[in-house]
Amino acid sequence: MTRKFYQQSLSERLETIAAKTTLTPEDLQAYQKDGGLNQETANAMVENVVGLYSLPLGIAQNFMVNGREVLVPMVIEEPSVVAGVSFMAKLAKASGGFEAGMTSQEMIGQLQVLDLPDPNAAAKSVLAHKDELLQAVSNFHPSIQKYGGGPRDLQARILPETEIGPMLIIHLIVDVQDAMGANIINSMLEFLAPKIENLTSGCVRLRILSNLADRRLAWAHTRIACQNLAFNNFSGEEVRDGIIEAWAFAEADPYRAATHNKGVMNGIDAVVLATANDWRAVEAGAHAYAARSGQYRSLTHWSKAENGDLLGSIELPMALGIVGGATKVHPTAKANLKLMGVQSVTELGEIIAAVGLAQNLAALRALATEGIQQGHMSLHARQVALAAGAKPDQADKVAAQMVAEKNIKLARALEILTQWNGRSHD
Ligand code: MEV
Repeated sequence: MTRKFYQQSLSERLETIAAKTTLTPEDLQAYQKDGGLNQETANAMVENVVGLYSLPLGIAQNFMVNGREVLVPMVIEEPSVVAGVSFMAKLAKASGGFEAGMTSQEMIGQLQVLDLPDPNAAAKSVLAHKDELLQAVSNFHPSIQKYGGGPRDLQARILPETEIGPMLIIHLIVDVQDAMGANIINSMLEFLAPKIENLTSGCVRLRILSNLADRRLAWAHTRIACQNLAFNNFSGEEVRDGIIEAWAFAEADPYRAATHNKGVMNGIDAVVLATANDWRAVEAGAHAYAARSGQYRSLTHWSKAENGDLLGSIELPMALGIVGGATKVHPTAKANLKLMGVQSVTELGEIIAAVGLAQNLAALRALATEGIQQGHMSLHARQVALAAGAKPDQADKVAAQMVAEKNIKLARALEILTQWNGRSHD
């Protein structure tokens, strides 16, 4: 019988993903030692480069998104996350997996207009020329229309009371399709700024995209059969109700919501990072969106279906790109996109939303039942063993001994290793 993915060696896992995807042996090089980003490319990406910094890349299993099975690459240093989402994806798969989508690929760019004696009149003047301004922006950046994108709208907002008095804010809405869009939007804003100054007689100061990309939302829904939630001495009903109670806590309390959403982002950031996307942009958007009601709340929602199943959903801004930028430069990011078989940013956003929801479910299920430490224990012990200097092939044994002794400490790991190494010298 073939061993499960988590039981396989690293090289067996590569064979497994090669068999399940269109990745070629050349693509797989990106997962090998020294096969990913090289120093020369890194040196061209940012400034003052002295080297590279590596993180583990794990492949989450069991994801079924919109009826398609997908292997999900996750870059993360924290144990339990890849295992947690894989297990929850398995529970979801039993009832069809995740249904997911994105609202659009529209990004918002902002122009800050100052020194206006009458901001309302200035706003009217801009809006009276909306069509010609949008046409001019369109002509300035014609290439994006080839891909079905382009400027979509111009909106005016007045902030009547700021620390420096009233200001007019112009929003430029652009469909950026499969690009992340920051460069497209920012260059369009630069182009628009003098035209807005002419129309308003004001002074345009900031010209920058907004990371609260609330026209570019990714969402995912799932259903988990109640009986599939049962484990150890916990009934499915107990687990389901515990998850809903945990969610209600986050929905009502920002102190809890911050931690709850941190768990969501454990899943989301890991995939965003694996595709060399801008995870700070996604983080900023997620937390701003979580606070849109005026109170910081949960990014997810959990409830009980009429038949007693657990229903979950998530919705958050998702500004991603699969063309241009680091996604096209980083060999491992390129391989990861191919691994997932995504053809559009929409498909990538859908997968990432599903992973965020799965990760939240994993955390709430553990927290509402046996507690988070139980599941973390052996993985945490493994990291302690590695930190104490255990070789990778010793780490599991040292970890198992510390878990059995219920004494997971660096000092104990060092003692065990010293004893073993002493013995091997005998
Ligand atoms: C730990 O990285 C994430 C959790 O704290 C999330 C949560 O509390 O929901 C377990």
